[in-house]
Amino acid sequence: MKIVVINGSPKGEMSITLSFSKLLKNSFKQHDFYFVDAARDINKFETDSLKMEDTFKILSSADFIIWSFPVYYLSIPSQLMRFVSLLFENNCGNPLKGKYAASISTSGHYFDHTAHSYIHSASEELGMNFISNFSADAGYFLKDENRDSFLKYFGSLFERAEKGEKIRKEFLPASETGKFEYTPVSSGKASDHSFKTFIIADIPEKGGNLEAMVNAALRFFGDSSEIINIGNADIKNGCIGCCRCILEGKCIFRDDYRSLSDRIAEEADIVIYAGSIEHRFLSPGWKQFLDRGFCYGHKPVYRGKSFGFILSGMLRENRMLKEFMEGYVQAVTGSSLFEYVTDESSENEAVTEEIFTFTENMIRNCRDKLTKPQDFLGVGGEKIFRDLVYSFRWFFTDDHRFFENEGRYNFPNTDPATEKRSLEMEALMSQPGAKEHIMKNLSKIMIEPYEKIIRETA
Ligand SMILES: Cc1cc2nc3c(=O)[nH]c(=O)nc-3n(C[C@H](O)[C@H](O)[C@H](O)COP(=O)(O)O)c2cc1C
Repeated sequence: MKIVVINGSPKGEMSITLSFSKLLKNSFKQHDFYFVDAARDINKFETDSLKMEDTFKILSSADFIIWSFPVYYLSIPSQLMRFVSLLFENNCGNPLKGKYAASISTSGHYFDHTAHSYIHSASEELGMNFISNFSADAGYFLKDENRDSFLKYFGSLFERAEKGEKIRKEFLPASETGKFEYTPVSSGKASDHSFKTFIIADIPEKGGNLEAMVNAALRFFGDSSEIINIGNADIKNGCIGCCRCILEGKCIFRDDYRSLSDRIAEEADIVIYAGSIEHRFLSPGWKQFLDRGFCYGHKPVYRGKSFGFILSGMLRENRMLKEFMEGYVQAVTGSSLFEYVTDESSENEAVTEEIFTFTENMIRNCRDKLTKPQDFLGVGGEKIFRDLVYSFRWFFTDDHRFFENEGRYNFPNTDPATEKRSLEMEALMSQPGAKEHIMKNLSKIMIEPYEKIIRETA
């Protein structure tokens, strides 16, 4: 087979993830391997149509495509996302239709599943037969037995493709959007508040529903609100994973990103992300903005702010994007409370009403400092960060100091009350007959501290 590896790491040849595909090339000599540096060369792909044409020829002649990428901010790097949109935009046909595909990533397993879902759904939308994904941590490759399992697994995928296995589709085709043109109706008036509100948006050139929705929200939020259009900002590049920001405290790109983001972190009470849904995610421009947040390390820089999303597109068909929103808010704010509004109701009055309700709810959340506990996505994610920062404390020195000060290194369980109870219960359980007694009265024993509070608050 002819196997083309689309390298989605901005580090190009230096990509850790790419080692997996290099090993495949060394081990499966019966197949021909080709490599496309999609992320590293994204600026050339944007400007050099000949390079894109040549690459399309290589892709067209492939039997099997491997998407190889690091997980960046709960999805794929912005550069690869842009490459995927160039494939969608291509006017001279789709070079990937009917090809078998699989994906390989490395990461700290923090939202690797949403990254693979993105590439899986994009592959299906491009008419490909997506067989499977392989998500490893960066250390996985270094163990002999892991490399053996990897080769065996990919050997099985190649065999399945050679046999022409029929692959079931995982995603329903995305609904067509853009038929409903939103025009705000004049209803409601600006809310009375002084919370500094930033709406950060990637407004498409032709404006469209997103621009109209953002304008309606700005009107309802009133004078203390401000729009930042990232499409107009001078943000030169996506993150290239060089990690100089971690080691030297500043990004190598001298552009507007850091000053914009620092200003939001310092001044905002309410932060709203606004975007159009493109291929089940936000735009590559948005992804670029998100990826550049890496310069803050693992600290929740927008903590304590009220968070919201204004989205144009079919969110209710898109569990993956919703999960990204939930995970992202929990990672960047440490909360799990956020509001969102879409144009899905496809009716001018209804959308305007929903935007009005959204602004009212955002202001209430902010004024009353409402919060909710984190769920699995936040709690699980924080444990991954905790272990990662601790293991690499020589590297993430700022994060390490922050995590120490916040008491985030809570392993093994160091909460004194829980520890005291564990010791007492251990001692009790070792007494003859105690286990039987506890088992018989378990529900009563467990509910007692809660009942005590209910009695006291009656
Ligand atoms: C901008 C940026 C964002 C990242 N976001 C995530 C993430 O959301 N989840 C995760 O598990 N790892 C994340 N990582 C870690 C990378 O996925 C990991 O270092 C990967 O192994 C790099 O692979 P590469 O050498 O092939 O580029 C991020 C790294 C960078 C530079």
